[in-house]
Amino acid sequence: MPKIIDCNTEEKLEFSEFLEILNESKINTACEDEMLEFAPYLKMLNNNKQFLSNIIINELKDYENFQNNNSYTSQVIMLAPPKKGSSFFVRANIWPAKDDYLTQINGEDTFFYHKPHDHNFNFLTSGYHGSGYWSDYYEYDYEKVIGYPGEEVDLKFIERSKLSIGKLMLYRAHIDVHDQLPADEFSISINVMENTLRPLVTDQYAFDTERKKIKKLLNRHNALFVMRASLVLNDQNSLDIIDHISKKHSMDAVRMAAIDAIALSNTCLRSRAEVYQNSLKANSSFISKNSYVRLRNIEEGL
Ligand SMILES: [Fe+2]
Repeated sequence: MPKIIDCNTEEKLEFSEFLEILNESKINTACEDEMLEFAPYLKMLNNNKQFLSNIIINELKDYENFQNNNSYTSQVIMLAPPKKGSSFFVRANIWPAKDDYLTQINGEDTFFYHKPHDHNFNFLTSGYHGSGYWSDYYEYDYEKVIGYPGEEVDLKFIERSKLSIGKLMLYRAHIDVHDQLPADEFSISINVMENTLRPLVTDQYAFDTERKKIKKLLNRHNALFVMRASLVLNDQNSLDIIDHISKKHSMDAVRMAAIDAIALSNTCLRSRAEVYQNSLKANSSFISKNSYVRLRNIEEGL
């Protein structure tokens, strides 16, 4: 499970002081040990129970520009957005209780409750307010996984615990899996997030923890959207380029997105199946396994 960091300092930092310290350090947030260097400062920021309401009040006063640098859902309050040349960003997360009005009107999915997943980035987190969200924690070995829906994974259950006030943890990329459960009361956490290219070039998974299988991939690159749009516009040149990408791109996930885009450009299911059939012998287990799953889904629908 995420590393629990023992840090009992009662010192407090203003948010501007906290940011200055983080900005001056040149750590690699993709490295767990280096990321841990931020932990005492996050604890000191967390000890300051005024800073977040000050930020929110200032945002509300300038409501025309409210959170205009936030690309997340409303659950996230962006405190220091990702920027070029900086290896981190800072955010606050809202965790409403099951019977909270926010949960009732938005649904539990909005808050990633009951959606077991890993992360393809490191992040530090700290319980800032409330009793904290619960998680069932698991661990797995990313290197032993190919990455296709239905793949069996050796998920090891560790424990159920909550992110209580002041608790400080490091979620490790590609190791820690959690199934988040609603907080008992309205809660807020503060995160220092890794801001590197790693989430763009590695996979993140949703898991079926009961069956111990990968449910689906949660990759964030938009290759499929762009290539699909290009093919919908029906340009032969696009098809040639996307076909080339499907064979030559250095990232298997992008090659697979190209194959999906070509397959989806066929309205006839048999032609679509043929695209995946041709990819079964690809020189990549990721592509052949994912093509097999797509093909099986089509055949079940035929
Ligand atoms: Fe998560």
